[in-house]
Amino acid sequence: MTVPVIALEKVEKAFHGVPVLRGVDLALKHGETCTILGGSGSGKSVCLKHMIGLLRPDAGRVRVDGDDVTMLSEEGWVALRRNFGFVFQGAALFDSLSVLENVAYPIREHMDWPEERVRAQVASSLESVGLEGIEKLMPAELSGGMRKRVGVARAIALSPRVILYDEPTTGLDPANSRRIGGLIQKLQHELDATSVVVTHDMDLCFEISDRVALLRDGAIVLEGEASALRDRKAPELQRFLEGSEPLLPAWSDPDRNTQENESDG
Ligand SMILES: Nc1ncnc2c1ncn2[C@@H]1O[C@H](COP(=O)(O)OP(=O)(O)O)[C@@H](O)[C@H]1O
Ligand SMILES: [Mg+2]
Repeated sequence: MTVPVIALEKVEKAFHGVPVLRGVDLALKHGETCTILGGSGSGKSVCLKHMIGLLRPDAGRVRVDGDDVTMLSEEGWVALRRNFGFVFQGAALFDSLSVLENVAYPIREHMDWPEERVRAQVASSLESVGLEGIEKLMPAELSGGMRKRVGVARAIALSPRVILYDEPTTGLDPANSRRIGGLIQKLQHELDATSVVVTHDMDLCFEISDRVALLRDGAIVLEGEASALRDRKAPELQRFLEGSEPLLPAWSDPDRNTQENESDG
């Protein structure tokens, strides 16, 4: 058995005495794209933050390449994070910095490269997301879809082994969402990365995932190959899709709901 790239083992986390994660087990295999589904506030972002040491578990373990990093120092995490690209929820660009400085940010943080090399790397990251030549623009000058792609360019600036995407298509129209989905797949191949995607976008989920995990009541209640779950026969996923969880944007389309209700009744 190969060692998981990142593993959460029985991770528990509470905030102000309110449990959010009650024992999450999730292991990422090298080279896969794993999507974490879950209702709003179910702890998806909290899960991702444990994977990159931005939050520490109250109980349980976090492993990176098999090493127990649960108690790793902040300096240790800073070094580890060099291998991780994180696409934050929302565009989360620095509004006062140009696109160049936004994408260069992790490079300047981790590397002592000459300016020329930094700029070449930024140019190549922007090219990867289809936005070559926009270094001088400010975030306010970009559309929502472009902001997300600049966020992705920043996440991949150091050719990470693991890319974590927190709701990468939320707020985007269908065409831009599809574009982000295609980009996630392209980067997966180009970088031979392991990807974790948090979303409520079911179309995105089944377009890009090798594996799907459903987070509910603080635990992964369902996990499996995307191809096996796509037929939606798993009862937990069925319930999630039917909206006993907060409604998903992609499934709150009135036409689609009507059709489903009609075929049910
Ligand atoms: N740093 C924090 N301090 C206090 N509460 C938090 C913190 N981060 C998350 N929470 C709470 O944990 C729960 C899960 O949050 P989150 O993981 O962001 O949900 P989502 O699944 O929508 O990403 C929410 O109730 C949220 O308010
Ligand atoms: Mg979130």
